[in-house]
Amino acid sequence: MTVAAKHQALDVTTAQAPLGAYDPQKIRANFPILFQQVNGKPLVYLDNAATTQKPRAVIDAITRYYEADNANIHRGVHYLSQHATQRYENSRETVRRFLNAAEPSEIVFVRGATEGINLIAQTLGRTRVRAGDEVLITAMEHHSNIVPWQILCEEKGAMLRVAPINDAGELILDEFARLLGPRTKIVAVPHVSNALGTINPLRQMVELAHRHNAVVVVDGAQAVPHLAVDVRALDCDFYVFSGHKLYGPTGIGVLYGKSALLNAMPPYQGGGDMILSVTFEKTTYNKIPHKFEAGTPDVSGVIGLAAAINYVNELGLDRIEAHERDLLRQATESLSTIPGIRLIGTAKEKASVLSFVMDGIHPHDIGTILDQEGIAIRTGHHCAQPVMERFGIPATARASFAFYNTREEVNALIKGIDRVREVFA
Ligand code: ALA
Repeated sequence: MTVAAKHQALDVTTAQAPLGAYDPQKIRANFPILFQQVNGKPLVYLDNAATTQKPRAVIDAITRYYEADNANIHRGVHYLSQHATQRYENSRETVRRFLNAAEPSEIVFVRGATEGINLIAQTLGRTRVRAGDEVLITAMEHHSNIVPWQILCEEKGAMLRVAPINDAGELILDEFARLLGPRTKIVAVPHVSNALGTINPLRQMVELAHRHNAVVVVDGAQAVPHLAVDVRALDCDFYVFSGHKLYGPTGIGVLYGKSALLNAMPPYQGGGDMILSVTFEKTTYNKIPHKFEAGTPDVSGVIGLAAAINYVNELGLDRIEAHERDLLRQATESLSTIPGIRLIGTAKEKASVLSFVMDGIHPHDIGTILDQEGIAIRTGHHCAQPVMERFGIPATARASFAFYNTREEVNALIKGIDRVREVFA
């Protein structure tokens, strides 16, 4: 059977979740990219924290959009424009429900988590933070949740404070609480660490920060693929994530913000759609969320993201979480028995990330040998250089799991690591 025919035969459905027992094999059938050989071996894709693969439902939604619906939105009286606008706004409602936000207007489409954080820093940050104020982050941030705040602090003469983590990669909550004070204007934290997998006690952190009237920005890029998120239960002020880590397209992401804050913030970029009226003397701005969506947006990306969310919802985040927890447990137990391996990130609460180093072997060599076995992991600093510094290492090897990964693939990873040891023996 050709690869294409195999896809066809296995592709029982595009968007339908497999009913009954959780069956990764059936789920995999919806992901065409997974059926390929790499270096003569079946692909084992374990780089999901960098980006996830896309189900046919997402690929088809994007193709169908360009085949049948493409038009500019919010601008035309003609059928296609109205229809595309409807689909775009329906997708906003899909995201609202996914995060349990109060209003669709609290959902702003951006390019990804990085742009969401930069938007907040450059709008709310610039109006709220003054000389002598503080922005509090954690020692487990990746660069997207460090650099935008550094730029802001440098411009304003404010100070960036960093809450420390322990040797397991967990936030030291007492220290976090101690660093909060009247000068803390913004607290920006990850829900889940990309380099360590740590799940932070967000509800507690938000409550502590709010006692000091600090605004809380949550980077949820590594959380939404693995955990059900309820922004109202968390009571965070902002929550950002990227579509491509949630089985959706690249180049699209979400910024959730409480409407009172979004309404009070100045615009981010100027251009079409974000205005109500323009004269050379004065421009008035559109209402939220459009105030933050200047120019023609990524309509197909938004529709693809909604398809991805529908897919995840149909599988059910509770079942996804249980399956991924099982994979992480299996992989952690197996890796722990291999001599010369040190796990980096051993928090009690973890999601789907397994970072490690091996005595005397550079992570890039681990990644290269695993690639020869068809196994894709990420090696390097994971855009989190301060995390590497905290653990006194230049880099790690990182396997990260998704709902379509299997126990057999974890076994392949362990066999691959044995191969690495053989090569370097
Ligand atoms: N932030 C992405 C990662 O962790 C790119 O790999």
